[in-house]
Amino acid sequence: MNNIKKILLLTILLFTIGCAQQQTIEKIRTPLPENDFLIIAHRGASAYAISHTLAAYELAIKMGADYIEIDLQMTKDGKLIAMHDKVITFDNAKQAVADVTFDEIQLHYPGKDFGKNHLNYTLPSSNDLGILHLEEILNHFGDSVNYYIEIKSPKEYPGIEEELVHQLNEYQLLNRVDAIPKVIIQSFDEHSLKEIFAMDSSIPLIKLYTFLKEAHLSKKELRKLTQYASGVGVNAMSVSRKFINSMQRENLLVHPYTVNDEEMIRTLINIGANGIITDRPDVAYRVRDEKNSLENQQYP
Ligand code: G3P
Ligand code: CA
Repeated sequence: MNNIKKILLLTILLFTIGCAQQQTIEKIRTPLPENDFLIIAHRGASAYAISHTLAAYELAIKMGADYIEIDLQMTKDGKLIAMHDKVITFDNAKQAVADVTFDEIQLHYPGKDFGKNHLNYTLPSSNDLGILHLEEILNHFGDSVNYYIEIKSPKEYPGIEEELVHQLNEYQLLNRVDAIPKVIIQSFDEHSLKEIFAMDSSIPLIKLYTFLKEAHLSKKELRKLTQYASGVGVNAMSVSRKFINSMQRENLLVHPYTVNDEEMIRTLINIGANGIITDRPDVAYRVRDEKNSLENQQYP
């Protein structure tokens, strides 16, 4: 190969690398609306109905939730299911969800959270008792509700991100123009969120944290976060006004979890939280409404 050809090839190679880098740089995280205080119904209105059932989700919407929260696991046969735990008790033995099929899972009693921390449970109709797979939920609600989906144990489920994005696309829930995003995805797993970001950067992503003391993120962690995340989900007891301000300065919104106490919801709104994950969307709705009414009051 003569020198001219070598230079030409090198130029093409450098140009291609440059374009690839440009594409990576051009992907920017999608901002969440800052002025709304979002009410996210934790597994549905799960203070009043069995969590992760259609009854819980329908009640949440009726109570004014902006989002229904769904925990996702994936069965052996690749179905995405609405379930919190990655292990189930099956025929008196513990088994990983990843090792059983969806049909086998259906034999598992779904109402295991029933009776726990409940106020006045709405009893679901018998149809609502089964474990739901994501498609059933998407099919039932379509684009009439907003979804706040948690990828629960991604390391156990290779391909869960692709399957999730595929289904969201099938139901035309992505890349839309809506007042608030139709879908938000959250996870404790940074790698999983980055996979989603690489597939579709239009989906707002929430990185979850649990802090034992007051919430705080290092500059290094913040730098990583601001490459892909739109916000953080943080255990409510750790959240301070200082932390919220430090996140918002980086255009990262803060959604504390899981808050059911009315006074605590009021405090979090007052210190600037951007939303709340709650089992009691009705309470959050009332507190938000009360704050909005006070702000809109006109004095002569
Ligand atoms: O939004 C975060 C929250 O859902 C995490 O808690 O209930 O999935 O264990 P949980
Ligand atoms: Ca969750």
